[in-house]
Amino acid sequence: MHGTFANAAEFGERVFCCVQGIHALEALQTAGEENLAGKILVDKSNPFLHKDGNISLDPQYSGWNSLGEEVQRMLPRTKVVKTLNYLGYNLMTNPGMLPEAITGFYCGNDSEAKQAVAALLKDFGWTDTMDLGDISRSRYTEMLGAFWPAVYGSLGHMDWGFKLIRK
Ligand SMILES: NC(=O)c1ccc[n+]([C@@H]2O[C@H](COP(=O)([O-])OP(=O)(O)OC[C@H]3O[C@@H](n4cnc5c(N)ncnc54)[C@H](OP(=O)(O)O)[C@@H]3O)[C@@H](O)[C@H]2O)c1
Repeated sequence: MHGTFANAAEFGERVFCCVQGIHALEALQTAGEENLAGKILVDKSNPFLHKDGNISLDPQYSGWNSLGEEVQRMLPRTKVVKTLNYLGYNLMTNPGMLPEAITGFYCGNDSEAKQAVAALLKDFGWTDTMDLGDISRSRYTEMLGAFWPAVYGSLGHMDWGFKLIRK
């Protein structure tokens, strides 16, 4: 069964944004502000530009800005939580496939929404999670997302993640 972005946004209790980041705003606009109002939107997209086999963050969503913030600005009644954008799809719901616990970063403006997403991550098998703060922290998780081609270029696979060692 399939439907439109608006159908999915209206139906979903929690909605995931998994489209190409540079098209995320238009896709979410199509989904409908009203359909997403009051709901948690998990944004795992990256605003990448592709050129000559390389990727870079789209300048309009980097520096003192980020896609996560733009999404939250466009959908003020939606609780946007940015997470999972900085690691391979294979690990998002199965971080336990690696020999050590990696760190699941998330950020957003709504505390309850973040708690709900942290619980969801736990259900996915994440044992180490970290709240980075408000949605402006997307600037950093999106920069982390842009790091993957460097590691992928060396390892040739996506079976790796970040572990934050702290006191
Ligand atoms: N793959 C990973 O391991 C990974 C890891 C972390 C984060 N992400 C992020 O997750 C998102 C999806 O990544 P991906 O690997 O699936 O490949 P992608 O090429 O970045 O995105 C493909 C998806 O974007 C949709 N899309 C493209 N243009 C669109 C438009 N104008 N309007 C609406 N939807 C559009 C496509 O829909 P159609 O199929 O209908 O064309 C498809 O579902 C990206 O933002 C990426 O940065 C991916």
